[in-house]
Amino acid sequence: MEIKGKRAEATRDVASMLAAADAHLMGNYRPARMVIERGEGVRLFDSEGNRYLDFCAGVAVCCLGHGHPVLSQAIAEQAARLMQVSNYFFTDQNIQLAEELFEATGYERAFFCNSGAEANEAMLKIARRHFHEQGKPRTKIITFEQAFHGRTLGALALTGNPKYLEGFGEPLAGMVQLPYGDLEAVEKALDADTAAVFVEPLQGEGGVNPAPPGFLPGLRKLCDANGSLLMLDEVQTGFGRTGKLLASQHEDVMGDGVALAKGLGGGFPVGALLVREHMANALPPGSHGSTYGGNPLACMAARTVLRVLREEGLIENAEARGRQLSAGLARIVEKFPKLCVGHRGQGLMRAIVLTDAKEPRELLGVLREEGLLATAAGPRALRFLPPLIVSAAEIDEALEMLDRGLGKVHAEL
Ligand SMILES: Cc1ncc(COP(=O)(O)O)c(C=O)c1O
Repeated sequence: MEIKGKRAEATRDVASMLAAADAHLMGNYRPARMVIERGEGVRLFDSEGNRYLDFCAGVAVCCLGHGHPVLSQAIAEQAARLMQVSNYFFTDQNIQLAEELFEATGYERAFFCNSGAEANEAMLKIARRHFHEQGKPRTKIITFEQAFHGRTLGALALTGNPKYLEGFGEPLAGMVQLPYGDLEAVEKALDADTAAVFVEPLQGEGGVNPAPPGFLPGLRKLCDANGSLLMLDEVQTGFGRTGKLLASQHEDVMGDGVALAKGLGGGFPVGALLVREHMANALPPGSHGSTYGGNPLACMAARTVLRVLREEGLIENAEARGRQLSAGLARIVEKFPKLCVGHRGQGLMRAIVLTDAKEPRELLGVLREEGLLATAAGPRALRFLPPLIVSAAEIDEALEMLDRGLGKVHAEL
């Protein structure tokens, strides 16, 4: 493939950039020891000229791949026209995005923010405030084991993972965590104080764990019977990733609210909380806000992503390429039994489940050597999240890289 565009500038050598990173960036991440300079389609290029197939996609973000001409141009033109005005004013972009999301999803009201954690934070606040506004306060929130809802203190309380909570003081009170998929446990836990159930339709960071069939419709029924809200976290699963615009559409379930981010901006930071009309008054003036939330630049990015997903048939592509990836992963799992126990996922959100011979993180470097970027999820899942523009040939190429990389590791076990 011809490489378009030039390298940004006469690049510093990698060793000096990594030394500067070690000296000046906070140590909360464990990035690979490489410096990425640019991307094109499903490919990324590092500062040493190596090219990779990007099956991480900014962690399920870059649904249109890198440098999509329509998205890049829309962002550039909007940046020149208007970037930010604050929520003291409407903008044409913010109103139209709300309208287009309503048409695409059926959720009537939107609150815009900048990330997934913020969308969940808003969803948590609105869940409690909804009951407060009705003069019947409820505070309890049901969440699930292995959930991931983000890293702000509210979203962390929903996440409930002791590892992520360590050292940050008492988590927000009122959270109850139950086994994912266990409707009976939910039925028992629901009571007159339960404001909401928060759930990912397919758990991402927790290990690409699919919900058992009937789980979401079952939650919908239980919440309705108890007068509680069903709040869907589709930050990772949303915007086409699983082969439907929203993963909850596979079982025709609507929440009272849904959190979106990641794919929504295709790489531009934007988050949204969408709710049904009966919650329209649950955040009265002054109760919540975000300076940048709904800025015209982010809204233009999201509107363009939604349009391109449809025009290029990318949600259908996620379904078709997802089936191809799934079949390929099944072959690999069978071929390397000392390393792999199975595979799971939906659309283009897939993982190989590993034996305890190797941690998923240990394999990422091996795959990079072959030219494939992947991610780890939970303790056992090696996760693949290609851009939704991925072609059949690119899926085959990634599977060959995976076969070679895992083959080397397997031979040494
Ligand atoms: C399901 C889910 N919710 C929330 C988040 C947090 O999103 P962000 O990192 O944009 O705050 C993530 C991120 O991985 C996620 O997968």
